[in-house]
Amino acid sequence: MSLHEYVSNIPAGYVESGPADSNSFLALRIALVQNDSDGLIEALHNISTPGNPSFGQYLSSNESAKFTAPSPQTEAAVKSWLQGTRLHASAITPAGDWLQFNTTVHVANELLGANFSVFTHTATGEQAIRTLNYSIPTDLVGHIDFVHPTISFPSPSPPPAVFSVRARDFDDVAPDDCTPDIVTPYCAHRIYGIPLGTITPAAGWIGVPAFEKENANKADLSKFMAHFRPDVKDSRAKTFEVESINGGKNLQDPDETGLEANIDVQYTVGIASGVPVTFLPIGETPTRSKDFDALYIYLLNQKERPSVISISYGFEEDDVSLSISRRVCYGLAQLAAEGVSVIAGSGDGGVGGPLVGDKKCYKNEFVPTFPASCPYVTAVGGTALRSTSSGALTEIGASFSGGGFSKYFTNQESRWQGRAVQQYLQRIGTLYEDRFRRDGRAFPDVSAVGDKIMIYFKGEVERVFGTSISAPIFASMIALINVERSKVNKRPLGFLNEFLYSNPQAFKDITTGTNPGCNTAGFPALENWDAVTGLGTPKYDALKAAGLAW
Ligand SMILES: *[C@@H]1O[C@H](CO)[C@@H](O)[C@H](O)[C@H]1NC(C)=O
Ligand SMILES: *[C@@H]1O[C@H](CO)[C@@H](O)[C@H](O)[C@H]1NC(C)=O
Ligand SMILES: *[C@@H]1O[C@H](CO)[C@@H](O)[C@H](O)[C@H]1NC(C)=O
Ligand SMILES: *[C@@H]1O[C@H](CO)[C@@H](O)[C@H](O)[C@H]1NC(C)=O
Ligand SMILES: *[C@@H]1O[C@H](CO)[C@@H](O)[C@H](O)[C@H]1NC(C)=O
Ligand SMILES: *[C@@H]1O[C@H](CO)[C@@H](O)[C@H](O)[C@H]1NC(C)=O
Repeated sequence: MSLHEYVSNIPAGYVESGPADSNSFLALRIALVQNDSDGLIEALHNISTPGNPSFGQYLSSNESAKFTAPSPQTEAAVKSWLQGTRLHASAITPAGDWLQFNTTVHVANELLGANFSVFTHTATGEQAIRTLNYSIPTDLVGHIDFVHPTISFPSPSPPPAVFSVRARDFDDVAPDDCTPDIVTPYCAHRIYGIPLGTITPAAGWIGVPAFEKENANKADLSKFMAHFRPDVKDSRAKTFEVESINGGKNLQDPDETGLEANIDVQYTVGIASGVPVTFLPIGETPTRSKDFDALYIYLLNQKERPSVISISYGFEEDDVSLSISRRVCYGLAQLAAEGVSVIAGSGDGGVGGPLVGDKKCYKNEFVPTFPASCPYVTAVGGTALRSTSSGALTEIGASFSGGGFSKYFTNQESRWQGRAVQQYLQRIGTLYEDRFRRDGRAFPDVSAVGDKIMIYFKGEVERVFGTSISAPIFASMIALINVERSKVNKRPLGFLNEFLYSNPQAFKDITTGTNPGCNTAGFPALENWDAVTGLGTPKYDALKAAGLAW
């Protein structure tokens, strides 16, 4: 056997509570080494590069599986190992690069030379069965990427982070109020030039995943639409569908209403007038792991996919091992290569990570938020409205806007950012140079308003902030542009980042604001790309024109 993965210490926040019962059930997943994951990324670049023969030719599920499937040698080696164990493992992705099997602690300890134990998260009391290290047979090195869940612990600080905060009541707000203190859907339409009116698209829909048993309340959405979008008459344009992943529910008891889930459906249904929205509640996976693997694995298994996904959840990048993050990130890349735009909020703690006021900042390093830090996701930062001396409205980078540089993913993996980010790094010089990885994938890519936003929660108007509002607003604009493309027989935009960095003119450059965190003032917003607001906020007409020309 060969030691495969280990952690030297029990992760912060957890204590060991003794060995796990040897008969305890364990659902384990084996991530097999993929035949050609670099090829998948190259194919994604080709698909998104105008002039390449593959431009706009999204991969079919079978085509992408050629890259992500295990090689025949890997398949054979792992199969023969498992046959000797009498375990029945089944493939859970179309490509067969993930196997899952059910077993017990006793068998898993033998199989992996592990010591599965019970670990308790002291703040929440939640328990998880994990091991501090495990081994695999030496002849499987190079065939098995990792076994999961083993050394990655469930995220402590409520997992995954929700980027929103509640404030006081605002029941008398007029639907067209649009001030630095009050942002409504009409206000978002006005500042970005998003068209009103209800459309009936021929195809395409927005997928809104939800974690953490968040429920999106339909009665709240009805009130929200009646109050803030009185122009929408068509009942189909005022609601959403529900598609459950792993038994996830959408409970409608008002007490069960989720703030995040409400925001996400209200700022997709309320902005992308008429584009169908499907809420995707994700139940607990048998592995009790980070749930983003459940999301992408589910979608890869579906024939009908949303053309746009808006994710308002995330966690600190190093809460999860590099190997798992890379697998999930490449899974999102696979969705992108098959034509899906994956959009995520960049986090709400500025340079300090996903959560407001997060003070972890281990060794003073800035904290990137995943999945925003994945190069194949479009990360959306937040802005706030301000009045100029002449009374006009302007935007600044919001202080909560998550931004910075990944520790896991490099600028080689996000080459389309090259010049824009290099210029920024030159301008900031040695600022914070020991706190972030200069050659990391930079984020956010773009931004949208996320401060002082009106929503309905448990029957009343509330004001919230966070990039979890910015993400659905931006995702809605992309969904509307996809509708325009469909009218001229063009397919959805799919992977967005190459497109966005090729069209900086479609963004209003935001040059004021910083994103403090980790006891620093944070990065400054500057001309062109910056680590607070990315390329800036979208100008709908310009982005539509660019989208139609792409
Ligand atoms: C396995 O973990 C338990 C705690 O869960 C510990 O008491 C025991 O010493 C460990 N065994 C080995 C061989 O390290
Ligand atoms: C990407 O495009 C180049 C140039 O057309 C081509 O040579 C290469 O084979 C393509 N790679 C993939 C993986 O499609
Ligand atoms: C995709 O692969 C599966 C399994 O190999 C096969 O049954 C199916 O016909 C293929 N589909 C297409 C469109 O080639
Ligand atoms: C593995 O990848 C190589 C290079 O892209 C490709 O030629 C080959 O067909 C792939 N093998 C399988 C089994 O998909
Ligand atoms: C493993 O157990 C889960 C939950 O009990 C079940 O849904 C699943 O079908 C089982 N998988 C296998 C491969 O037996
Ligand atoms: C693996 O973990 C056990 C505790 O469960 C520990 O005693 C042992 O030293 C670890 N081995 C390595 C190689 O880290």
